[in-house]
Amino acid sequence: MTDDTPNDPQDAIDSEGERRREELDDRIFDHSAGDDQEGVPFVGAGPGNPRLLTVAGKELLEEADLVVHAGSLVNSELLDEYCGHAELVNSVGKDLEELIPLMRDAYEDGDNVVRLHSGDPAIYGAALEQMDALEHEGVPTYFVPGVTSAFAASATLRTQLTLNEVSNHVAFTRPQGKTLTPEEDHISDFVEMGDVTTCIYLGTHAVRDTMDRLLEADHDPETPVAVIYHASWPDEDVIIGSIGDIADKVEDAGYRASALVVIGDAVTGAGYERSFLYGDWANRGPDSSDGNESDAQANETQAGDD
Ligand SMILES: C[S@@+](CC[C@H](N)C(=O)[O-])C[C@H]1O[C@@H](n2cnc3c(N)ncnc32)[C@H](O)[C@@H]1O
Repeated sequence: MTDDTPNDPQDAIDSEGERRREELDDRIFDHSAGDDQEGVPFVGAGPGNPRLLTVAGKELLEEADLVVHAGSLVNSELLDEYCGHAELVNSVGKDLEELIPLMRDAYEDGDNVVRLHSGDPAIYGAALEQMDALEHEGVPTYFVPGVTSAFAASATLRTQLTLNEVSNHVAFTRPQGKTLTPEEDHISDFVEMGDVTTCIYLGTHAVRDTMDRLLEADHDPETPVAVIYHASWPDEDVIIGSIGDIADKVEDAGYRASALVVIGDAVTGAGYERSFLYGDWANRGPDSSDGNESDAQANETQAGDD
């Protein structure tokens, strides 16, 4: 494709989606995540600290000629450290009509092109639409996963997002707004379930609205909430509170973006019970009569079954 203008991105999305519905992509069976592959990699930069970039991501950045990055949520330290030699383009404020020809033309000129997303590209990254638009123009693409900000937040909080008898489920979600209608906002439903750790992306500006809705829905105002601003960055800040008081605290701190909101008892890491995984019976194996299954397999089976 030599024309400067790409196909209409929505046509590309529709047509690539239709193709996927009809036939699975062979690459699914030929490659695993982390493999070196042909095309433009969509790399997860991780939450911010350059040390939280994957080895695969680092190698790709070191070889890149063009890095199109996701602006302020990709730490400039990481760009300086790994992509000093590459042309850097900030994707913020650019639409698909501009980004796709930029990446396509560089790739067709033989450049190593990396699309760098914050955290993991598969979580609120809008990566697939760029990949579909590129694929539609004959440019192969693939994902290289990254550490999503919820995982950095749980590490900062020194807790697990799942904890036996406290939280068996994790919801990655966002509040109502331009993208979600009030009916599509399920934060209250997740909190209602009780044993869910709710991780809210893209909701820093809406903490008060979100908490007000939870209070209106009669959720316990004492339910723990943590807001982690810039998890893993040098200016990381952790605000701990509850549904009843977190909005005041976040407003006092002045944060309107770049934070993850975590709701649920797992925030405190208190009140859980030991798991079955390291219980006595788990180490005996699932069926002591045949003794064929290794301890490792037995543990995996039992952890999965728990
Ligand atoms: C467009 S989403 C991208 C999420 C990203 N793909 C990920 O996996 O973390 C941006 C939102 O992610 C969250 N976020 C990203 N990086 C963060 C960080 N280092 N600390 C806290 N929240 C972060 C914030 O909620 C922010 O509004």
